[in-house]
Amino acid sequence: MSQRTLVLLKPDAVARKLVGEIIARIERKANWTISALELRTLDRAVLEQHYAEHVGRDFYEPLMGFMSSGPVVAMVVEGERVIEGVRALAGPTDPISAAPGSIRGDFGTITRENLIHASDSVESAEREIKIFFPDHG
Ligand code: PPS
Repeated sequence: MSQRTLVLLKPDAVARKLVGEIIARIERKANWTISALELRTLDRAVLEQHYAEHVGRDFYEPLMGFMSSGPVVAMVVEGERVIEGVRALAGPTDPISAAPGSIRGDFGTITRENLIHASDSVESAEREIKIFFPDHG
């Protein structure tokens, strides 16, 4: 089943020069394609839309502050079961519980700075792609 997903390489990934390493892992999946890519610094308005479901959570403000602390790489990745697949490549939210071989397991430090966001469902992916790439096919 071909899908599309919104991936953000977070400010820690850009600052630590892990963008190439992470993109290489995504590109290694033969059936996946990066169909949009942009380096940008996110303002509060975009982040409020993106993280709307988390308003009021204890991590909301730290997350907003971190995500606007430097540029991110935003991407649309398309391909076979890519929503589940990129999340599997990323590993769980908390890098301490992420297995070696996953992005967070190999490079993660603390939960806030967990390197990568990837949409968690078809509905989230469509909503998030509209926020970051409104003109994407
Ligand atoms: S939940 O309850 O399953 O919806 O939460 P989860 O998917 O684990 O996390 C939602 C997003 O919040 C980020 N997060 C945090 N940011 C900063 N500090 C702390 N402590 C923290 N805990 C969770 C987490 O990385 C998710 O962001 P994205 O961009 O989706 O990865």
